[in-house]
Amino acid sequence: MSLYSKQDPHVYKLDSLKNYTEDEKKLITEYLKIEKYYRYALKEMNAKIENLDDYCENTFAHNPIHHIESRIKSPENIIEKIHRRGYPVNIDSLKNLIYDVSGMRVICNYINDIYQIIALLSKQKDIKVRLTKDYIISPKPTGYRSVHIVFDISIYFGTEPIIIPVEIQFRTIAMDMWASLEHELRYKSNNEFTDYDKKSLKEYSDDLYQVDLNMQKLYIKKTTGDRDDD
Ligand code: GTP
Ligand code: MG
Repeated sequence: MSLYSKQDPHVYKLDSLKNYTEDEKKLITEYLKIEKYYRYALKEMNAKIENLDDYCENTFAHNPIHHIESRIKSPENIIEKIHRRGYPVNIDSLKNLIYDVSGMRVICNYINDIYQIIALLSKQKDIKVRLTKDYIISPKPTGYRSVHIVFDISIYFGTEPIIIPVEIQFRTIAMDMWASLEHELRYKSNNEFTDYDKKSLKEYSDDLYQVDLNMQKLYIKKTTGDRDDD
């Protein structure tokens, strides 16, 4: 199952702290004190995106967003990432170097919807783009496609503003389908894919991308009143 749960995105399970080092325990304890800021940031960003979907429905008679998922990174995964990146095990590494504690997936209907939502969001004055990785223009060698953007959003704890990064992965339904199944297959096969499996998965991703492009074309044709000649 995906870490991104629709039921209760903000609840995670913390295993017993006994297997952690003193530095890791200190980091987790300090993180749990500020975890609420990351939850507030997710809520604010979620509202912004839902409002944009509504705006598009009103303005263009089209809902760009199929659905939204969100999750807070678990302490276990924060510790794992800090070690993987070789960062010092302390709260400053988490605050300054990890941008995906608050994580969202915005699943759009068409490719153009992704860029439209990004363009609209980027114009909003109370958030700032910190980082963009466009894996649609440059897919990963696995075939993974998505646009990842880290937005810095200002949230308030009482009257105190706090800037929190939120990572959003923007995907079409087809890209999300591929990523979910590829992730599950990877997990089921203990991260071991044969060269043939890898080649097949890459091909399926390219096939799905072609379907995305064709659906987009059909959508444009049907909504701009082009005559159907066939
Ligand atoms: P993380 O430390 O995992 O966040 O990696 P990173 O900071 O280098 O970020 P990257 O841009 O590679 O994005 C990582 C996230 O994108 C993962 O957590 C997945 O959600 C997704 N992702 C990236 N590559 C793949 C892939 O090949 N397959 C699938 N299914 N998901 C991927
Ligand atoms: Mg990540």
